[in-house]
Amino acid sequence: MKVVMIGAGYVGLVSGACFAEFGAHVTCVDVAEDKIDALNRGEIPIYEPGLDDLVKRNHVQGRLCFSTALADAVPEADLVFIAVGTPTRRGDGHADLQYVYTAAKDVARCLSGYTVIVDKSTVPVGTARQVARIIAEENSEADFDVASNPEFLREGAAIGDFMRPDRVVLGVESERAEARLRALYRPLNLIETPIHVTNLESAELIKYASNAFLATKISFINEMSDLCEKVGADVQAVAKGMGMDGRIGRKFLHAGPGYGGSCFPKDTLALARIAQEHGSAVRIVEAAIEANAAQKARMVKKIREALGGEVAGKTVAVLGLTFKPETDDMRDAPSLAILPPLMEKGAIIRAHDPQGAEEAHGLLPDGIVYADDIADAVCDVDAVVLMTEWNQYRNLDLDGLRQSMRGRVFVDLRNVYDVEQMCEAGFDYISVGRS
Ligand code: NAD
Ligand code: UGA
Repeated sequence: MKVVMIGAGYVGLVSGACFAEFGAHVTCVDVAEDKIDALNRGEIPIYEPGLDDLVKRNHVQGRLCFSTALADAVPEADLVFIAVGTPTRRGDGHADLQYVYTAAKDVARCLSGYTVIVDKSTVPVGTARQVARIIAEENSEADFDVASNPEFLREGAAIGDFMRPDRVVLGVESERAEARLRALYRPLNLIETPIHVTNLESAELIKYASNAFLATKISFINEMSDLCEKVGADVQAVAKGMGMDGRIGRKFLHAGPGYGGSCFPKDTLALARIAQEHGSAVRIVEAAIEANAAQKARMVKKIREALGGEVAGKTVAVLGLTFKPETDDMRDAPSLAILPPLMEKGAIIRAHDPQGAEEAHGLLPDGIVYADDIADAVCDVDAVVLMTEWNQYRNLDLDGLRQSMRGRVFVDLRNVYDVEQMCEAGFDYISVGRS
């Protein structure tokens, strides 16, 4: 089976490497020459646990290669995946489909023999049909089908998610396309992965609906965390008690600074726009978006109040900048919404992140001191804010920390620590949804 993966980003590179591991011959094609050059030198452009070994192994064994030349790879391919970015379009919140459509045009010109073009990018309902129209217009001779195969991997756990998914969703219109996709995913039969086959529109909507539902769960528990603080309840206990009900489930009920990342924020917004366009109400999704913005604003207030209401001249150590641990991805990270307002009010920030500092540099305001290690970040600060729950921050030497700090405020936006333990260690400890 020969596969072309257009886009060698978080999804394209992981999917390409995993398909190669399944035994397919994969070419990852990207317009970013520096990325392809780096990959050909054996350098992995993103931080994703396990990806380095997986890519290198399959590259060395000749099943995974990297190129900028679409025209060399596509004619041979049985399946061409489009895994380019679909960021929020500036100004209106819709998904920006320019990269998808450009890829479709580029592919159309190189097709030779029957090929299945598969949207793996997260795209609005109707995009696969539009891709089919573009290809037919560009190349009236092309023998092809389009399919939708949305991706559900999480950053930081991407390889495990791809190799052991809860389900594979295939939106198809022909038996030939379905057969090819089933053959590609055949190794997952061994672990009895359900393959959910449906039409193009349903597959496209499953992806947005799933992300919006997960985002709603998070916003729900984040709103509960505010109520917990006001009534003296503990949001961890509430979430645990709720999650014991199998109908609710315990996952994605962890209160925090609001969801971030390259997908929940943009996909909830895009779903709201799709629904508006079709005159359909998705009030719950709109409320989840609003609640998420409010949660981030509430975190700014929480930190300010923890410092006595006045942050001017106070030094704050921020542990973690990325939107979640085990990634270097800073897209829509809560730190990007929480730190600038504190800095505007005069807070001095010393930040540490195991992987995201370089990316954060270009996105956060100037003036932040990026520390190489935790000890350097927390030295002589008035407060510590635990922003992202990297493993490195889960077992801090509390006595050592207290001694290196000037103040004793510890704001834990991920509820990593035990309230009593932190109070006993001498901290003014503030967390989320726990009094
Ligand atoms: P990304 O920005 O990391 O990567 C996209 C890549 O596509 C870039 O390297 C870019 O240079 C390349 N590209 C753009 N136009 C191209 C073209 N015409 N030809 C070749 N390459 C081109 O994006 P990502 O995070 O991998 O997301 C890709 C898609 O997958 C999005 O729709 C996203 O919503 C979806 N998705 C992402 C995740 C995730 O965890 N990041 C998970 C599931 C789904
Ligand atoms: C999410 C989905 O989980 C994936 O299934 C999906 O494929 C992906 O989006 C996508 O479409 O790109 P990801 O954004 O990588 O994956 O990470 P998550 O683990 O879902 O976390 C997203 C955000 O929600 C993070 O900021 C995280 O801290 C936050 N979160 C998550 C919470 O605040 N509480 C939780 O209980 C879970």
